[in-house]
Amino acid sequence: MRTSRGRFITLEGIEGAGKSTQRDVVREVLIQAGLDPLLTREPGGSEIAERMRALLLDKSNQGMHADAELLLLFAARAEHLHKRILPALEVGQWVLCDRFTDATYAYQGAGRGLDRARIAMLETFVQGSLRPDLTLLFDLAPAAGLARVHSRSDPDRFESEALVFFERVRSDYLRIAHCEPERVRQIDAGRDSMTVAADVRRIVGDYVAALGSS
Ligand code: TMP
Repeated sequence: MRTSRGRFITLEGIEGAGKSTQRDVVREVLIQAGLDPLLTREPGGSEIAERMRALLLDKSNQGMHADAELLLLFAARAEHLHKRILPALEVGQWVLCDRFTDATYAYQGAGRGLDRARIAMLETFVQGSLRPDLTLLFDLAPAAGLARVHSRSDPDRFESEALVFFERVRSDYLRIAHCEPERVRQIDAGRDSMTVAADVRRIVGDYVAALGSS
């Protein structure tokens, strides 16, 4: 199957929602459809953006001002977009990105309490009209997500936030899904991973098939 411009798929959800496992499922569906997706992530995804990621996740940067955090995220996004995402999309490659700007609305907007209009301004400044074509939102109760995360690793700067922070993040993700039901498909990530994977296969499979027949 050929399309002129590649499609941009993003994965979202709070920590511990199983995005990494399900990313492999999405990748498999795309490969079976004859596509060769670029797999990437935010913050990060390019050499300089990965250095910014390290600053953002480093627990010793606990005192980082929320505005600095927001600008650093968009600085990393600009690097990533221009170095990797846009060049791939332009030659028709599909891009599968673990988190994108919906995370900024959820974490910096709702989580940190920053004004959504300022985020929207930066979004337009950095991305122009580029938005994801399809977003899979893995929805999970924060208590369950955090329990998963804390059982497997030393928490980073975001993972060290309190439960109430993640409650706000989750609510905002749900708000976005409610506002944009065509783009954002909400998936209940509280079920076993095989059941979640079946939903992912169906949603992504249908999306690819619909493009192929249009
Ligand atoms: P990860 O754990 O999915 O790799 O993401 C790293 C962290 O970065 C995660 O806690 C969410 C956070 N984040 C933001 O706060 N805002 C953003 O815009 C992005 C992309 C990630």
